[in-house]
Amino acid sequence: MAKFDLTGRKALVTGGARGIGAGIAQALAQAGASVMIGDVLADLGKETAQRLSAEGAKVGFVPLDVTKDGDWAAATDATVKALGGFDILVNNAGIEITSLVVDVDGDDLRRMLDVNVAGTLLGMKHAFRAMRPGGSAGGGGAVVNIASVAATIAFPAIAGYSATKSAVDRATRVAAMESGKLGYGVRVNCIYPGLVPTDMGMKLANDIVAAGLAPSVEAAVGDVIGQTPLGRLGEIGDMADVVVFLCSDAARFITGAGLAVDGGMGM
Ligand code: NAI
Repeated sequence: MAKFDLTGRKALVTGGARGIGAGIAQALAQAGASVMIGDVLADLGKETAQRLSAEGAKVGFVPLDVTKDGDWAAATDATVKALGGFDILVNNAGIEITSLVVDVDGDDLRRMLDVNVAGTLLGMKHAFRAMRPGGSAGGGGAVVNIASVAATIAFPAIAGYSATKSAVDRATRVAAMESGKLGYGVRVNCIYPGLVPTDMGMKLANDIVAAGLAPSVEAAVGDVIGQTPLGRLGEIGDMADVVVFLCSDAARFITGAGLAVDGGMGM
């Protein structure tokens, strides 16, 4: 049973084809929202949308490369047209390219900045334009950005990624401030997930081994669990439930916040 009610809400989830994003799309739909998944993986994105639709929700797919301003304009229009509005944006799309500082590659770094930082900011730009009074979906809303525990603690071999997620954290605050002061009626928050064993999470564990920082994937994962007071890895549902909460009226007085969803790892 849904814990928070999002009946009638219209959401766009970036990077929703798989992993945490797919789980967020599912949880929003289960809470009553209709959802568009935006992703560069068209086949998988459509498949995920169909799978969730089969569970009884209204879930569609729109091609979206979050680094492209034009894609955002089209995806925003498509969301408003397909769902009849747009009042929730979850900026979840992200990439992680592991590297020790001594091996940092400029192109990899720029790619992460493009997807994680520019992608999130462009999303907020188009969400604000649509959701603010007079916009195509005028009537307020909620944005949740997916940052990372990496924005709150030091973890080896992800300096570049950590920098991008710290930037997402700061951009969230500024956007929340602007929305409040300019009367857009859009709440903006972010979450800091701990390690979740998705494609990205498991690739990171393997990269940690390859970087000589742990003898095996089991040891790398064990290190993370050892640093986590609640004693386990994160699950997709742990993240999705908090996103649903932040989008709901139960969070109506929360904006500019960053919620750690990391079992206490970053406390
Ligand atoms: P994932 O790699 O399994 O899924 C990422 C999704 O984003 C994929 O569907 C991918 O196609 C999409 N994507 C990538 N670049 C894109 C672009 N330019 N435009 C549109 N879509 C794009 O990753 P996961 O684990 O589900 O991560 C989701 C978010 O959570 C990311 O922002 C990640 O940084 C963050 N996160 C993940 C953690 C983990 O341990 N898995 C921990 C902390 C944060």
